[in-house]
Amino acid sequence: MALLIQGGTIVNADQSFRGDVLCQNGKIVAVGENLDVPANTEKVDASGCMVMPGGIDPHTHMQLPFMGTVASEDFYSGTAAGLAGGTTMIIDFVIPSPQQDIMEAYHQWREWAEKSAADYSFHVAITWWDESVREAMGTLARDYGVNSFKHFMAYKGAIMADDEILVNSFDEARKLGALCTVHAENGELVDRLQKKVLAQGITGPEGHPLSRPPVVEGEAANRAIQIAQVLNVPLYLVHTSCIESLDAIARARQSGQRVFGEVLAGHLMLDDSVYRDSNWASAAAHVMSPPFRPKGHQEALWRGLQSGMLQTTATDHCCFCEPQKAAGKDDFTKIPNGTAGIEDRMHVLWDQGVNTGRLTPNEFVAVTSSNAAKIFNIYPRKGCVQVGADADLVVWDQEKTRTISKETHHQNIDFNIFEGMTVKGVNIATISNGKLVYFDGELRAVKGAGKYVDRPCYAPFYDALEKNAANLSVEPVNRKENS
Ligand code: URP
Ligand code: ZN
Ligand code: ZN
Repeated sequence: MALLIQGGTIVNADQSFRGDVLCQNGKIVAVGENLDVPANTEKVDASGCMVMPGGIDPHTHMQLPFMGTVASEDFYSGTAAGLAGGTTMIIDFVIPSPQQDIMEAYHQWREWAEKSAADYSFHVAITWWDESVREAMGTLARDYGVNSFKHFMAYKGAIMADDEILVNSFDEARKLGALCTVHAENGELVDRLQKKVLAQGITGPEGHPLSRPPVVEGEAANRAIQIAQVLNVPLYLVHTSCIESLDAIARARQSGQRVFGEVLAGHLMLDDSVYRDSNWASAAAHVMSPPFRPKGHQEALWRGLQSGMLQTTATDHCCFCEPQKAAGKDDFTKIPNGTAGIEDRMHVLWDQGVNTGRLTPNEFVAVTSSNAAKIFNIYPRKGCVQVGADADLVVWDQEKTRTISKETHHQNIDFNIFEGMTVKGVNIATISNGKLVYFDGELRAVKGAGKYVDRPCYAPFYDALEKNAANLSVEPVNRKENS
């Protein structure tokens, strides 16, 4: 059946205009006024509201096996919660264990994701290196629609990628025309600092930010950026949380390097005082990496977003409930790292971004949807309200308010880092693949309705090392024996 969104203001990243949107067979088939619609078309009244592209969260971890447990949110519950909050697509991560066959891990994650209620795609993490990994990168890029590879520069002894892995993987990605993404924290320093903090007798969650200060992130961000510069591969830094890495991104972009930065809704909103909560469970619930930062970093991140130095917003949605966090009761380094947010990102960004004047509605669309679609090469199929695009939409009532709470959220977690925040600007309807999946507080998510989204590679990037060598035109020095 066709679906008509009627009477709203369509807001894209580049323009806003009055119009109706007709959806059929999962696609937008007409946009404009006085549209001809088939008989029996279902209608959604959007008068007084904005009609925007559904949110894309480019950083989630549904049912991730991590730190001895498995994230409590699965692909169905997580994508359903996303739909309730206006997010219609996620890009999650395949994270092979070291030495695990990459294709085996990829197929495992694909199977887990079949129950998704919203569209999804995968970055694939490179956690170790040999020729089989190189081959798998090619197979994934050519045959499976994977155009981004992830590198964890932290988590020593588990999934950390050292410089040798980074260099091998970055150069292969360059040849494939794929994007490299990094979790930028110096894993060696984190390991050293964790041991020092524990040795001082600090075992609670307050030790977490002490062991991962901003400079540890800044060092890794600078290193990844410079490796990417030497190898001439585009780089995307996930969860940029502090001034140090924001500055690194800004410097690189000003010098013409293709570097992108993502920021999490949580890092924009919260500071590190959460780790000093007298309630252990509440402090532990905020343990994620990189940690929430001292006051001052949040405003800098907002300015990064406003200026375009940071392009995307995400959540790093990775849920662990209190019994799981309790694994680190006597040792903060054992608290599973992760916080939730997929249901709240759009609302928090609107309330603290648009309502404060930091972002225009069009910029809001850019940072919650279109920019991710462009960077990960699925635009304008996603990230845009136009004929031919997927019918993934959100109907937004700017006047409506809602109070965020774990008591009412759909996320499968017993904590909400935005608890008690009243936001103005609420999605009253979410459309996914042309179907009304959330309306007026009622979630109608369908298990398995989400589709895998192929993301084609860009053209290969040139080999800077070869080019530089050719440009040098320096003859080898001819040295005589014993001279
Ligand atoms: O603490 C976090 N962020 N957990 C998920 C894994 C990661 O580093 O993204
Ligand atoms: Zn990370
Ligand atoms: Zn993550």
